[in-house]
Amino acid sequence: MPGFELMGAEEKANLIEIFETSNGVMFPHGFDALRNGRFRVREFEKKFCEKLNIKHAQAVTSGTVAQLVAMHAMGIKPGDEVITQSFTFVATVEAILALGAIPVIVDIDDTYNMDPQALENAITDKTKLIVPVHMLGNPASMDEIMAIAARHKLPVLEDSCEALGATYKGQWAGTISEVGIFSLDFGKTITTGEGGMIITNDDAVFKYAKEYHDHGHESNPAFPRGKDTRSIYGMNYRMNEMQGAVGMAQLEKLDYIVSKNRENKTILKKGIQTDKIQFRRLTDAAGELADTLIFNFENTELTGRFVKAYYEAGYGTKNVPDAIDWHFAGTWNQMFSDVPAYRDSWSTVWAKSAALLNRSVAIPVMVKSTHEDLEKQIAAINRILSAL
Ligand SMILES: Cc1ncc(COP(=O)(O)O)c(C=O)c1O
Repeated sequence: MPGFELMGAEEKANLIEIFETSNGVMFPHGFDALRNGRFRVREFEKKFCEKLNIKHAQAVTSGTVAQLVAMHAMGIKPGDEVITQSFTFVATVEAILALGAIPVIVDIDDTYNMDPQALENAITDKTKLIVPVHMLGNPASMDEIMAIAARHKLPVLEDSCEALGATYKGQWAGTISEVGIFSLDFGKTITTGEGGMIITNDDAVFKYAKEYHDHGHESNPAFPRGKDTRSIYGMNYRMNEMQGAVGMAQLEKLDYIVSKNRENKTILKKGIQTDKIQFRRLTDAAGELADTLIFNFENTELTGRFVKAYYEAGYGTKNVPDAIDWHFAGTWNQMFSDVPAYRDSWSTVWAKSAALLNRSVAIPVMVKSTHEDLEKQIAAINRILSAL
């Protein structure tokens, strides 16, 4: 699964190097002489751009903030409608609400991502942005979503927080639309502990995001930081140098993580012998991140019995069913009591999504699982399935 499994000597060496060469300067700007000219956050952003073949990358403090800053930079204003999906981490909708915009949340389909038809049905005069989420490493149906967006002249922001390293028809997740965002939190493909990244080829979006995340600083080379120029105000969402240093080491491990995910997931999936489950539909089987194996049963009763026995065998699940309360809009009473569109109906609007998610199980694929570990896991799954 994620980069935390491989957090080791390389990350440690990069951190020690800051202490040995930069005199404790953890701030990403200024103090050039004291820090001996090393800027890790900038180096990390540059590496990120090279890896994903994108023009701009802006590091920030979290994936949630990456979305908030990106939406500001894309010109989203209070009252604008932003369409996203019912199955996502709560953060996707929190960022929309934090901006004062209106979340319009549509059902998922058997890809466990945005249903393109539901998206099309939800577009109104007030729609200003579409935010598909590449949930659990499987890119959304981007051909269909981008075609709908083009027809309605709407921009798209990919929430790729859970899909760094996945590709869709040869393009990296996060690079298919105008703007992509990533989370670098503890559970993601690579991690800086907490952190986020905004990527784009759009110069104006990047300029705004760069300034907004740093109190409006233009980082004008003609002035010292204290006299820096500015034309907008912003916030402080700056990543620090320790995170940048860890991120550089983690990024070197990305290809290995993805290839191990794919190898281990293939073994797991091939080993499961049953006709009692349906696997998630993949939009690009060769390109998915493969950090999660998702399947569903015919009914909730079978799902419940499987999950109980699976936990008793010492294994865990991921997002569904264990953390469904944080990943399905139909459980978010804390958010929708003030949102007119959902105030009285939030728990029933996404019936189609609920029907699928309540029958679903998501199993994490671990990078460090050995063949022996996987054989044991497969034996446990098959034993439980055959007893159902
Ligand atoms: C789909 C999705 N969007 C946004 C986020 C928010 O990222 P962060 O935890 O870095 O704020 C997450 C993190 O779990 C996520 O999975």
